[in-house]
Amino acid sequence: MNHKLKVVVIGGGSSYTPELIEGLINRYHEFPIAELWLVDIEAGKEKVNIIAELAQRMIQKKGFNIDVKVTLDRRLALENADFVCSQFRAGCLDGRIRDERISLKYGMIGQETNGLGGFANACRTIPITLDICKDMEELCPDAWLLNFTNPSGMVTEAVLKYTDIKAVGLCNVPVIMEKGIAQIIGAGEGEFIMQVAGLNHMIWVRKILHKGADKLNLVMNEILNGNDPLVPANIPPFEWPKDLLKDMGMIPCAYLRYYYTSDDIMKQEQAEADGEGTRGEVVKAMEKRLFDIYKNPDLAEKPKELEKRGGQYYSEAACELMTSIYNDKRTVMHVNTRNHGAISGLPDDCAVEVSSIITKSGPLPLNVEPFPDDTLRLIQLMKAYETLTVEAAVKGDLVAAKRGLILNPIVNTGTILDEALAETVRENSDDMPQFRWILEQNPTVNRAGE
Ligand code: G6P
Repeated sequence: MNHKLKVVVIGGGSSYTPELIEGLINRYHEFPIAELWLVDIEAGKEKVNIIAELAQRMIQKKGFNIDVKVTLDRRLALENADFVCSQFRAGCLDGRIRDERISLKYGMIGQETNGLGGFANACRTIPITLDICKDMEELCPDAWLLNFTNPSGMVTEAVLKYTDIKAVGLCNVPVIMEKGIAQIIGAGEGEFIMQVAGLNHMIWVRKILHKGADKLNLVMNEILNGNDPLVPANIPPFEWPKDLLKDMGMIPCAYLRYYYTSDDIMKQEQAEADGEGTRGEVVKAMEKRLFDIYKNPDLAEKPKELEKRGGQYYSEAACELMTSIYNDKRTVMHVNTRNHGAISGLPDDCAVEVSSIITKSGPLPLNVEPFPDDTLRLIQLMKAYETLTVEAAVKGDLVAAKRGLILNPIVNTGTILDEALAETVRENSDDMPQFRWILEQNPTVNRAGE
């Protein structure tokens, strides 16, 4: 009897899931999934059931035979899984909003994957992910873990370093950049190869190989002339510093604005927070509208409103990765995987985001021409921060946390960092059990409003 292809989605109640369902439907001819398990927690019960009903309508409309199951029992879902997609948000959107608001209160950029916000998100998320991997090692040791959970690069590094699970980290930013480049050079899908390298949310396009030429300069000139379709929806339009990019010889992803124009972004984020709200607060309102749409029993497709989210096209990466591994397609995809020399100057065992050939045995990273020294130093600094953050998240090591944060160019240091860290630990006490010892040993940290 043919093996029943089983896919499990941890965080199945995510508002993004209809996009994943659409991606699986579009690849059913080559990726004949038999069982799709949507897993969530008690707090996500209502949402995951709404998503499951929409998924069933979308699948029925196509007449495919995919059995959609919903459970709060992760272990039941993981039994004999082939692929596990992790897309949960530890602490939910309120955790994201806390990250944003605490960072801004201490004069720092408040973002879900960068700076102190990204650190806090990693400290909530990594322990849960390692627990998932422990279950996978017992219940589906040969399964692939596709990690979409943010901060995807650090979460992937934690899995690669602390578990035996075959893991690949994903992000939609390379997909958005690739689609924007296709639009600029007038190429169809698969007519060109984009090579990216760096870290998650810190990548640069290094090559755009199209019809025998490298079209990187052409695309860079379009961007410098104000035509920049490479930006995700969660990042408001902005002007790159033209003098900085003009002769850079590589195209930075939109998240580099947090590093190249930190103070401008800080001021923009503070103004937004004082106005319509932080990105997390805006998204929370957006999510409510999305689920009202999802509930509609006549809806049997991914609604267009989902394209307003920053994570748009994430399912392109997730579904294409699963079918490329399953069918040994040797597609070039841009994934988080072990460096192994792909980027010279970084440790072999750290997670990098690089263009890779996807095989049945997993990603084969393409090595990239050496980065200019100044950019390499920034990447090395951020990788050292990430590696220390992973260590802090796993061990509850406050010194490792501070050693890492001190390296991060968009984190303020000194007393302000002590206070911001204390508030982060205090406000996340339910979601950061590894740091609870601090609250017990330092009552002052425990007293709100100190
Ligand atoms: C980006 C990032 C994702 C992130 C998303 C947030 O595109 O690549 O990692 O989760 O935007 O989008 P949102 O609409 O939730 O702000």
